[in-house]
Amino acid sequence: MCSIIGYSGKKDAAPILVRSLEKMEYRGYDSVGLAIKNDSLINVKKDIGKVSEVKHSLNLDKMPGKIGIGHTRWATHGEVSKKNAHPHYSNSGNIAIAHNGIIENFQQLKNELELDGFKFESDTDTEVLVNLIQKNFDETANIKETISKTISKLQGHYTFVVIFEDGTLAAARFHEPLIIGVEKNSYYISSDVLGFIEKTDDAIYIDNENFVIINDHNLDIFDFKGNSIKPNITKVSKEFADVYKGDYAHFTLKEISEQPKTVLQAGNDTQIKEISEMISKAQDLYITGSGTSYNAARISKFLFSNFAKVKIEPIISSELPFSPDSIEENSTLMTISQSGESADVLDAVRIAKESNSKILSIINHPNSSLSQESDLVINLNCGPEIGVAATKSFTSQLVILYKITNKMCNECMNLDLDKASQSISTILKDDSKIKKLANDFKEISDIYVLGRGIHFPIAKEAALKLKELTYIHAEAIPAGELKHGPLALMDSNVYVIIINPNDSTYQDTLNSANEIKTRGAKIIGVSNQNNEVYDFWIEIPVIDETLYPLIEIVPIQLLAYYAALAKNTDPDYPRNLAKSVTVE
Ligand code: F6R
Repeated sequence: MCSIIGYSGKKDAAPILVRSLEKMEYRGYDSVGLAIKNDSLINVKKDIGKVSEVKHSLNLDKMPGKIGIGHTRWATHGEVSKKNAHPHYSNSGNIAIAHNGIIENFQQLKNELELDGFKFESDTDTEVLVNLIQKNFDETANIKETISKTISKLQGHYTFVVIFEDGTLAAARFHEPLIIGVEKNSYYISSDVLGFIEKTDDAIYIDNENFVIINDHNLDIFDFKGNSIKPNITKVSKEFADVYKGDYAHFTLKEISEQPKTVLQAGNDTQIKEISEMISKAQDLYITGSGTSYNAARISKFLFSNFAKVKIEPIISSELPFSPDSIEENSTLMTISQSGESADVLDAVRIAKESNSKILSIINHPNSSLSQESDLVINLNCGPEIGVAATKSFTSQLVILYKITNKMCNECMNLDLDKASQSISTILKDDSKIKKLANDFKEISDIYVLGRGIHFPIAKEAALKLKELTYIHAEAIPAGELKHGPLALMDSNVYVIIINPNDSTYQDTLNSANEIKTRGAKIIGVSNQNNEVYDFWIEIPVIDETLYPLIEIVPIQLLAYYAALAKNTDPDYPRNLAKSVTVE
């Protein structure tokens, strides 16, 4: 979602800030802006549109000054408009702010500020925040006291970065990420390591409920009580520096193509052993996640109960606060999240902790908010995933679940991950049929994806990929449910993808395909075995049947990607979506 960046150093700030915002584009946004201190003035330029568009229309990267802040906004309070874009000035024009997250009590604060004579131009909670900062600064004339006083009034989740007219930058973190990049004579304040990774791999991950003040090349960190905190500089892992498309047209294709390698990198043996032992001892075991990560979570139910005889209850994170299966006292909650920043997942964790639960997390981003909240973390190790639609992170999540299951059942599975990796390579190598089929998707408005048993969560994931990348209505149906309603939808205008490898679900699912075929729908079979019922056969290699879920999603990722190209949509940045959903 929104990204913030700040720079204080000896170089021109504007080109650095613009470049940083470009690197963080994948997080999703609708408007862009910079505030740069030049002499004793803070200049703000902002507008709606892509970073490259606003850069050209407003000469953003030519703004003079060595200290500044920047922002890409994903609208929450107020429409997408220039006036709502960040940064926002305070009424005096001496302070400007960029902000991620939501100030829940903004209306009450706004009313109080209005009584003091403050005026507001935008619909945002951010403009309220910057004027609260101004009020506190007018009263204290001290930046540390100003920030302390301000955060004591705020409710909600936020990270903000403020520029004062003397060139001081201040930033505070409350349940939204904040990372400082450290270079000789320069500091970067960012919501994402990608904001500064081209410049430096030395980083300080600011803890939750801490704030920083950067002035005259000095950095001070404080907790929300005002105590001084010693900076802890760490190296950003090498893989997270690897954020280039290389020869690929899109990040999404690059990430799909990396899977033969990434499925071999997920988790390490010590982590797997440790988590398996903790799960085996767990009294009540739940698993949660959102979107793709929840689809992976659903797979755990099949693996754990079939092989390890362990019961696990998947609960979608956004539903967990309303779930009748409330988390029992002293239970164990597994979480899955690529970003480790999804607000719904973090909220689920907060609820679980209230009932004294242990938190075991499967995460791609080390040092994310979720890892800080977890008792144990297993890393996906699949490198940065920039394409908004999750691809390689999904297969890495599955690999970790397979490995945990195999450990819990004393290696009872035939878990040949080298073979799985080769099978994925085979699928990727010959994608000409998939490309051709994707062309047909230009004209269609509905796709259904059928799967049974463990293949149903894969059907859900397939439908999610098709929706996100092609904007075609796509719906997963448990194959056995056709007669209970969905058969009414089947006619010659629809395409139905059947996830049907040759395992125990094969014959029943084939019967479902035949029922649909007689209603005239086009059938796309994803299987290691061809059948006359299929109008199109997407072949997957033969592999031990337990591993089909891991490989059968890959051709559908490709299909969704190529259909996006055929439909002229942007596969890396689907409309209205953000990579890291940091608000509930
Ligand atoms: C789908 C997708 C989203 C995410 C979801 C959870 O392609 O990317 O559905 O899976 O927002 O995100 P994480 O895994 O970062 O918690």
